[in-house]
Amino acid sequence: MRKWLPAAALLAAFITGPATAGPIVIKFSHVVAENTPKGKMANRFKALVEERLAGKVAVEVYPNSQLFGDNKVLEAMLLGDVQIGAPSLSKFSRYTSSMEIFDLPFLFKDLHAVERFQKGEAGQAMLDSMRDKGLIGLGYLHNGMKQMSAYTPLHKPSDAKGLKFRVQTSDVLAAQFEVLGATAVKKPFSEVFTLLQTKAIDGTENPWSNTYSKKFFEVQPYITETDHGVLDYMVVTSTEFWQGLPDDIRAELKKAIEEAVEYGNSVALEQAGQDRQAIIDSGRSEVIALTPEERAEWVDAMRPVWKQFEDRIGKDLIEKALAANNR
Ligand code: LMR
Repeated sequence: MRKWLPAAALLAAFITGPATAGPIVIKFSHVVAENTPKGKMANRFKALVEERLAGKVAVEVYPNSQLFGDNKVLEAMLLGDVQIGAPSLSKFSRYTSSMEIFDLPFLFKDLHAVERFQKGEAGQAMLDSMRDKGLIGLGYLHNGMKQMSAYTPLHKPSDAKGLKFRVQTSDVLAAQFEVLGATAVKKPFSEVFTLLQTKAIDGTENPWSNTYSKKFFEVQPYITETDHGVLDYMVVTSTEFWQGLPDDIRAELKKAIEEAVEYGNSVALEQAGQDRQAIIDSGRSEVIALTPEERAEWVDAMRPVWKQFEDRIGKDLIEKALAANNR
């Protein structure tokens, strides 16, 4: 029977014409868990594409750094091994220094201010700022404001002195800990839990959803509610892949991305609140609230970082970001 199969296949091809290439495959690689704003956005995008482009496009979502860590995903995208990703804004500095604005400590007062800046002219222009490097931004996705966690309580900036903190691959984030007299260690997200568990590092900074979903709170007895910075994402694709799509498919995919991003953004704030509460309820970590005086001390201690990066990021851009706090 087996030896007749090729002949049967040939006959079928003769009758039906050459076999079609099959659906366009989109690999969406990310590093966080599925029960986070980014995980939910990616899964919603897949569901929308399945519903609207069945047979034409197939989306494969790889969460939890299963395919690539965020430090590698952009390189993989440029090589055509991944088609869509949503790395944190802190991971783009190699491609455009303007994106470092999002890492300046105590710049945005809350997520609403971040959103106003992203939706404004400067924020929208940044989506297109990496085209010549082969990357196109398709939208901003929220996670949330960051907290600092450690093995010892952090009430004042001096409490961080001498400690080792993991940071993403951003010079601004490294400088932010160095001005406190702490050591910044740039490491991939997938290594953070083990680094904390083995006490190779003393602390880290993360939004509530990452601290909860990756169980960092189980190995960090103290979390200080600093809200000192933002962790948001840019949904990106490669220029080559995106421009190479048929117009109708690209338009449909763009719509699906926009709807999925809107959904992800709509759950981000609520998710942060729920995950914060779940951490408190677990009793594993003490959540430390800062008094206004303590908070002012953190702001004063970290503010010199703005000056350090002002030329690289652009004074104008910093002013535009500050203006987004006031509306
Ligand atoms: C991190 O590396 O801490 C974050 O970028 C992870 C993420 O994607 O939220």
